[in-house]
Amino acid sequence: MSHFFLYQPKKHIMKITVIGAGNVGATTAQRLAEKELANQVVLVDVVEGLPQGKALDMFESAPVEDFDTRVIGTNSYEETKNSSVIVITAGIARKPGMSRDDLLNTNAGIVKSVTSQVVQHSPNAIIIVVSNPLDVMTYVALKVSGFDRNRVIGMAGVLDTARFRSFIAMELNVSVEDVSAFVLGGHGDSMVPLPRYTNVAGIPLTELMKKEDIDRIVTRTRNGGIEIVNYLKTGSAFYAPSSAAVQMVESIVKDKKRILPCAVYLEGEYGFSKTVVGVPVKLGKNGCEEIIQINLTEEEKSALKKSADDVSENIAKLSL
Ligand code: NAI
Ligand code: 2OP
Repeated sequence: MSHFFLYQPKKHIMKITVIGAGNVGATTAQRLAEKELANQVVLVDVVEGLPQGKALDMFESAPVEDFDTRVIGTNSYEETKNSSVIVITAGIARKPGMSRDDLLNTNAGIVKSVTSQVVQHSPNAIIIVVSNPLDVMTYVALKVSGFDRNRVIGMAGVLDTARFRSFIAMELNVSVEDVSAFVLGGHGDSMVPLPRYTNVAGIPLTELMKKEDIDRIVTRTRNGGIEIVNYLKTGSAFYAPSSAAVQMVESIVKDKKRILPCAVYLEGEYGFSKTVVGVPVKLGKNGCEEIIQINLTEEEKSALKKSADDVSENIAKLSL
C-alpha cells in the first residue's frame, strides 16, 4: 500500500495557536478549523485535560464537517512553536454585576504570563488579544512581548460593530450583509458607535432611521456585552466574539487587507499617544499595516477622547 503515498517535500506548516480553551477560545479554534485557515490549530489551557478533550472532540467532527486542519490540545507551549498567529483568550470572564474593568488585575497577570511564554516559542507571530478589559490587555501583551505595535492587535471593534449591524438589520428587517457600520473607541461603556459612517446598501443610516431610534440602538450596542451576561448568568458572550476574532485572523493569514476596527497602540494618531484605542486599521500579513484616520465631528472627537481617557486611566493602574 505504501506506494500510494507519494513522497512530498516538507512544506511550511501554517499553525495558529489559541490560548484559553474556554468558551471563546474553544469556539475560535472550532471556527478556525472549520474554515481551514491553518494546517494546525493548537489549543492551550492551564486546566489539564480540557484543551486535549475539546481538541480531540473537535477533530472528530472533521470527517463530518469536512476539514483537514489538525486540532491539537495541550497544556504546554512547546507545541505552539512557530505559530503564525496567536489568539489570547485566557482569563476570567464577567458574571452579572461585574464590569469588564473588574477583571483588570487578575487578567493582567494571566495575559502577562501567557504572552511571555508564547513569544519565546513564536517570536515572529502576530498576537490577537481577546481577554478583557480588552484595550488594557492589548497594552499588556504589547509591552510584555516587546513586539512592534503592528503585531499586537486587540479584538473588540469587530464584535461591537457586528452587534451594531445586527441590531440595525433587525430594526429595518434587512439583510445584515447590506449593513456596513463602524464602532470606534475602547471596548467599554464609552465605546463610540458612529451612525454617520453607517449605511445600508450605501444609504446613510441617518436617512433611514429617526434619531431617537438610532440613539436606542447605539445604547443597546454599548450594552451588548452585559445584555448577554445577564441572560447567561454564568459567563459572557462567545459565539459573536469568536467570529470576530476569526475574521481578523482570516484577514491576516490570507493577506486580505480588510479595513476593520481594531484596538491598537497609538502614537499620535487621532491625537492620542501611549494608549490603546479601537480605530479602523488595514489588516494583512504584517498585522496592522495602516491606521486609517477618518474625519470626526467635534462631538465624535470628544466621545473618542472620553473612551481613550478611560483606557489610559486603567493602564495607569497596572504594575507591569
Ligand atoms: P472562559 O472562562 O470560558 O475561558 C477562559 C479560559 O482561560 C479557561 O478555560 C481558563 O482555564 C483559561 N485560563 C486561565 N488562565 C490561563 C492561563 N494562565 N493560561 C492558559 N489558559 C488560562 O472565558 P471566555 O468566555 O472564554 O472569555 C475569555 C476572556 O475573553 C475573558 O476575559 C472575557 O472577558 C474576554 N472576552 C472578550 C471579548 C472582547 O470583545 N474582547 C468578548 C468576549 C469575551
Ligand atoms: C462582550 O462584549 C464580555 O467583552 C465581552 O461580550
